[in-house]
Order: sequence, then structure tokens, then C-alpha cells
Amino acid sequence: MPVDLRSDTVTLPTQAMRDAMATAELGDDVFGEDPTATRLERLAAEMTGKDAAVFVTSGTMGNLASLLAHCDRGREVILGDESHIYHYENGSASALGGLVFHPVRTSADGTLPFDAIRTAIHSPAHHYHFYHHAPAGVICLENTHNRCGGRVLSPEYFADVAAIAREHGLPIHLDGARLFNAAVAAGRPLTDWTQHVSSVQLCLSKGLSAPVGSLICGSAAFVDRARWMRKILGGGMRQVGVIAAPGIVALRDMVTRLAEDHRHARILADGIKTLKGVVLDPPEVDTNIVVFRMPSVAKAEAFAEALADKGLLISDFGGGRLRVVTHYGISETDCRQAVATMQSVWA
Ligand SMILES: Cc1ncc(COP(=O)(O)O)c(C=O)c1O
Repeated sequence: MPVDLRSDTVTLPTQAMRDAMATAELGDDVFGEDPTATRLERLAAEMTGKDAAVFVTSGTMGNLASLLAHCDRGREVILGDESHIYHYENGSASALGGLVFHPVRTSADGTLPFDAIRTAIHSPAHHYHFYHHAPAGVICLENTHNRCGGRVLSPEYFADVAAIAREHGLPIHLDGARLFNAAVAAGRPLTDWTQHVSSVQLCLSKGLSAPVGSLICGSAAFVDRARWMRKILGGGMRQVGVIAAPGIVALRDMVTRLAEDHRHARILADGIKTLKGVVLDPPEVDTNIVVFRMPSVAKAEAFAEALADKGLLISDFGGGRLRVVTHYGISETDCRQAVATMQSVWA
């Protein structure tokens, strides 16, 4: 069996999840009649301190439905130039929603500088006066930050961005694909972050190991609109309790154990530091993601390929950076073995 450190998305459902799927109470969720989906949505709303939540098929759909729910066509989405939405979601908000991405510089720790956010905002009042700019529609944050190596953005940073958003009457959408990792690493409740945002997308199918799905949470009016957008995107699902049931297990049983993944990531990081000429980038390892820089793009590609030949799978992040991610399917022994494999291949 290969040791698969490419992503926490490769996790398989636990036996408790499989049992929950087999016995889930079901109904037609497009009619609002699937009790299991409703239970999952209520649980997510409670955990995030929001009025309501809606279950969607993926993080990508959750982010897209949220942006469409916040903004009319022709509005700008202000987001980090290293964000997942900008890099990896097919430009879907532009392709399908007529929204304009306005990327701003991402700092190494995953934050967007306040002055960069302020400069990016073409306020609706300004726009209507001069008729030049696409007016701002929403500000996006990501936590933990994937391309910045799983860094945790602090609730205090969120509070400061929220103050800027409030000045301009803008909503904030949080891509919280791994917000549970942030919460566990910081030892703080989700609400420390979610109180500062209008909407949040949470993934069940990453570190929490559910097979499918994400939740978007927000005010009742926002979720109502997001539910409509989900239907437009083909995401109205019928007896969806079959896949919502493992999501309930994920929220109930799988959050606190993320600390173990974080500990395992530090074992990998300590090992990677011993590889001559290789540097952790960023040097800090906050959660379950470790990104490191090889001496060249060619060496990065060759190293990843050589590891794959030895049964160790990792991700090529481009530009000479490689990524390893710990998760439920990875033990401490796997991590120690992975370090030994890297050391022998690099030598
Ligand atoms: C930060 C972040 N946001 C969103 C997503 C999208 O989630 P999905 O793969 O479920 O569409 C991912 C997936 O890896 C992610 O890392």
C-alpha cells in the first residue's frame, strides 16, 4: 500500500460513517424533507453560530454558491492571489456568475494586507459616481490557507478585516475548507472566526474523512439564496441523507483527532529539514500541511517521481515547491517511514 500524502481529500470513510450511511433516515431534500440532511445542516449552523446552513456537494460548489448568493453579475470578488478560489476553482464565479476576480497580494502567512484590501475596494458609491469600476461585491478569506502551507489566520485578523468590510457595507466569505484544523490548532471555537464573516464554507471530505460534501453557513436570508444558487448549479439532491449521514459522524467524532494530524505533520517537517538544500516554505507548520522548496523545479519533479516509485505519494505545488499533507489514513509510523524514504532518495 502506498503512503499517500498528496492531500487529506484521499481519506476514506470510517466504519461508523459507513454504518450511518446504511441506516440513514431519508426523504426528498429538494422538498426539504430529508431529516438526515436537515440534522447535518442544523449541527453546522450551531457550530458556526449562524442561523442556517446548506449541504453542498463540494467545497468548490460551496464557494461558488456563496459568491453567487452574495453578488450580482458585474461585481468584484476581492480575494488573495494565492487563494484556492482564485487558483483551483476553474474561475467558476466568472465563468458562470459574471463576477470579476480582483486578486490582491497574499502575505506569506495567508493574510491579505489591510492596505491592499482597502485599495482593491471600488465602493458602490464611488462606482456610481464615475461609472468606471466594477463595484466590490464580497471579500474572501481562506483559513487554514492551503497555498501558504496550512497557516492559521487569527480571529483578531478577521475582526480587523470585518471592520474594513463594514465601512464599505461588504460581506466576507470564508473558504473554511480546513477551518476545523485552524480551530483545533489554535484551541479556539469556530465562532471566534465565523462571528466576523457573513458566510463560511466548511469541508467534510478533507481531514474529517467524510466521503463527500461541504456546508455553507450564514444568515437565514443568505442560506435561502445559497440554496437557490445550489439548485441552479444542479446541486439540488434528493435522498441526500445517504451522504449527509457520514457528515454528521465527521462533525461529531472527527474534529478533535485533527491534533494528531498536526503532530504527524511536525514529524514530517522535522525530517524534511534534514534534507540538504531543502527548505520548509513557509518555515512554520501550523496544521496538517507541510510545503517545502527544492533547489530547482527539475529537482522537485524528479524527487516527487522517485518517491512515487518507492510508494510515497506527494504533491508537486509548482515552482519547485512540494507539499505533503497528513490525515486520518496516515499513522506516526507512516510519517517516520516517509522521512526515511525521503532521506534515502535525496541522498
Ligand atoms: C482551501 C480549499 N478550498 C476549497 C477546496 C475545494 O474543495 P473540493 O475539492 O471539495 O471542491 C479545497 C480543496 O482541496 C481547498 O483546499
